Amino acid sequence: MRPVIRAAVAADLPALVALDEVCFGATAWSEVAWADEFERLTEDRVVLVADSGSVVGYVVLLLPPVVEDVVEVLRIAVAPGERRTGIGGQLLTIALERCTGRTVLLEVAAGNESAIGLYAGFGFAQISRRRGYYPGGEDAVIMRWREEA
Ligand SMILES: CC(C)(COP(=O)(O)OP(=O)(O)OC[C@H]1O[C@@H](n2cnc3c(N)ncnc32)[C@H](O)[C@@H]1OP(=O)(O)O)[C@@H](O)C(=O)NCCC(=O)NCCS
Repeated sequence: MRPVIRAAVAADLPALVALDEVCFGATAWSEVAWADEFERLTEDRVVLVADSGSVVGYVVLLLPPVVEDVVEVLRIAVAPGERRTGIGGQLLTIALERCTGRTVLLEVAAGNESAIGLYAGFGFAQISRRRGYYPGGEDAVIMRWREEA
């Protein structure tokens, strides 16, 4: 059964912290950092979760209220056992529905083939690169998406 994509609520916080740890390990956001994202929901954040009884994926957008301002995909992840079943695509579809007419940027490790494959499939184009950006020296690739209204 395909998960439901819905806005995150405060009760999702523990599940998000736990799943982020599984997906990002040393670079996972702390509970405090996640709580901060939730506090910004009324300001400039969108947090969506994929819910199939439990949280199996999520996406976090920085979506400033000023339409000329750039949107950023801050995070997207799917539980390891659920990957390659379309959930990342479901999350990104719903997220990008909020972004019509806006420019969306993201930054991804150059070797992250799954994420780059996902983004490219949605029409994100590689526009720039930050050499040696990540600890360990991996490059960051900057990708941009824009769909006119
Ligand atoms: C990136 C990520 C969110 C993709 O989620 P997912 O649910 O597996 O993605 P989907 O099943 O919707 O895949 C959609 C498309 O993305 C591309 N894709 C996904 N995984 C891929 C892989 N391992 N290799 C190449 N392309 C891949 C494919 O084009 C795929 O379409 P297809 O299955 O029809 O070929 C997931 O791999 C993940 O959580 N990775 C760890 C966290 C991370 O690196 N996040 C991004 C940085 S913030």
